[in-house]
Amino acid sequence: MKDKVIVTGGCGYIGSHTVITLIHHNYEVVIIDDFSNSSPQILDRIERISGVRPHFEQVDLKSFEATQAVFKTHKDAKAVIHFAAHKAVAESIQNPLMYYQNNLFSLLNVLKAQQENSINHLIFSSSATVYGNPSKMPITEDAPTQRSSSPYGNTKKIAEEILEDFTNSQSEISVISLRYFNPIGAHASGQIGEFPSGIPNNLMPYITQTAAGIREKLMVFGNDYPTKDGTPIRDYIHVVDLAEAHLKALERLLDTSTTSPLEIFNVGTGNGFSVLEMIKAFEAVSGSPLNYEITDRRPGDVPEMFASTTLAKNVLKWEASRNLKDMIQSSWTWEQNLRSELK
Ligand code: WQD
Repeated sequence: MKDKVIVTGGCGYIGSHTVITLIHHNYEVVIIDDFSNSSPQILDRIERISGVRPHFEQVDLKSFEATQAVFKTHKDAKAVIHFAAHKAVAESIQNPLMYYQNNLFSLLNVLKAQQENSINHLIFSSSATVYGNPSKMPITEDAPTQRSSSPYGNTKKIAEEILEDFTNSQSEISVISLRYFNPIGAHASGQIGEFPSGIPNNLMPYITQTAAGIREKLMVFGNDYPTKDGTPIRDYIHVVDLAEAHLKALERLLDTSTTSPLEIFNVGTGNGFSVLEMIKAFEAVSGSPLNYEITDRRPGDVPEMFASTTLAKNVLKWEASRNLKDMIQSSWTWEQNLRSELK
């Protein structure tokens, strides 16, 4: 058994895939989750897939006392991977205080509890949303960050600023912040995947729910963008590739010869696909036409985002290995076979 790692939000979409990758690489995992957007059944599924049931602590990270207590119990952990956060853009516009309170208090409590228990490594879930509407493609990590059009996006930008100040102030804790592009796909077992609550905000779950008959029709938000077919371009990344990026980040942090206080990496494939290309690719995988309609632009959407992957390749020694067909096929399998069991 290798080192112990605390994974907050370990029952969520990206967290659960990362937990499985960590277990496969013999890490001892402690999941902290409050089930606010996940379910206890995920623990059973992780056990079924990996053969190991991780330690589990149901904790609301907004409470410092509760966070401190669980970190104290697991003070032999070497690192924390902090996924736990609210992530719905539209909900954050409706309820900004809930987002700032949840996403930022939890980060502050995790950092303070790490400090008090000498758990000296952190991987933070950031987002490409910190780039706002970038002027140059592909986006490199040194591109300026911009104020986001949503409170959700802003919590990620502010969190990175907190991490910068914190890591500048003292040398004990080293941090890797991973800026995710657009995670889609599901585990090859078909047992875990994305489980959006209510109406999905994101493209891929909306497509699969439409094909499954849960939604009537996909609305394509605008076809008058300055892109090849007029629809916005994004860098979709397989969630299992994303999980493997966390493993590489963890290995880098634990290898003390390479650590510097704060490092930031894009996690994308470097390839951009438009909304219409995604629909076509989905239709090819599912073998049926998708019901969709072009409608108005969605406020806040930018025309084009795709990652420069050079830094992750050279420094993190990570690059995505799964292609768009793998991503879409696994999303579709997950939607068809098992998603309904979790209701
Ligand atoms: C992709 C494209 C839409 C739904 C958002 C957040 C970001 C991150 C990921 C995570 C866009 C179009 C979508 C639909 C559509 N958050 N679309 N019809 O906007 O790149 O990023 O999710 O936790 O912070 O901003 O991803 O999947 O919402 O949209 O036409 O019903 O699909 O306009 O061009 P986005 P998305």
